[in-house]
Amino acid sequence: MPVPSQSSLFFYDINTVLEDTRNEVTLGLQRPQKMISPKFFYDEMGSELFMEITRQPEYYLTRTEISLLREYADEMADLMGENCLLIEYGSGSSEKIRILLESLRPRAYAPLDISKEYLGAAAGALASEFPWLEVHATCLDFTEDFELPFTMDARRVAFFPGSSIGNFGRIEARAFLGRARRLVGDEGGMLVGVDLKKDIAVLNAAYNDSNGITEKFNLHVLTHLNEKFDADFDLKNFVHSAVYEPEKGCVAMYLTSLQEQKVQIADTSISFKAGEKIHTENSHKYTKEEFLYMALDAGFTQYHFWTDNNNRFGIFYLT
Ligand code: AVI
Repeated sequence: MPVPSQSSLFFYDINTVLEDTRNEVTLGLQRPQKMISPKFFYDEMGSELFMEITRQPEYYLTRTEISLLREYADEMADLMGENCLLIEYGSGSSEKIRILLESLRPRAYAPLDISKEYLGAAAGALASEFPWLEVHATCLDFTEDFELPFTMDARRVAFFPGSSIGNFGRIEARAFLGRARRLVGDEGGMLVGVDLKKDIAVLNAAYNDSNGITEKFNLHVLTHLNEKFDADFDLKNFVHSAVYEPEKGCVAMYLTSLQEQKVQIADTSISFKAGEKIHTENSHKYTKEEFLYMALDAGFTQYHFWTDNNNRFGIFYLT
């Protein structure tokens, strides 16, 4: 049920039930290569830690994308068209969309995020800052197939910044683009930020910042599981690592167990050997051509592309 909390703000919660997500976590930790989906980074604290990462000097992604958005906002807004229903995947703090809102003047803004408290606060702040804007915030897991929980007769344009598409595997990214293509329909479009392939040292530094914020962010996933799923991970017993793997074209992030140990998640016990790793995230990097190939394969037919002078980051508008 939508909860109208102000005249221009509506909030919907269609996130998966707790038992299903707990099962997803325990199954992931029982696989031969233990894994935790990166979506579990994003509770309120995890979203804040991610914001802190974006301010680290080594993490060039956000800064570069924001300068591109600032430089080309009018051009992008012209292509996206006025009066659209603007849907943002993984909206977080809704920081980037602010750059486009005045030029774009959408009919409504629909942020989607898995972190309920964070989404509520960000959507509320945005609705008061832009009183002319109708905001429909939905808490959901957009890595799954979904329908918007409200109807609106408006052309749909999706916004997926930050290279979060890189956190999907290549097959999942192609499938996600296909679902986004269906969500926006024949008249719609999608503005998507993509981190480009580059010098390996630059990539490794971005995921191993010298202030240790990425390390904290990575370890925080365990705190989130402790709190949400009644687990008893001891963070002292794990260490962070993130390395670019050229053959996969991604930075792979892990938490390595420092000792043999057992961890309890509700009524499931998980055993770790010393040195055993939990895979927590892949961050895929693409060339312009690799990404386009995938977008065309997913059903988009036209594109515009913007990049910075160093070709570090790209933004595509796909229709
Ligand atoms: C959200 N996502 C695009 C970030 C990335 O770069 O893959 C998450 C992140 N992980 C470590 N640092 C940042």
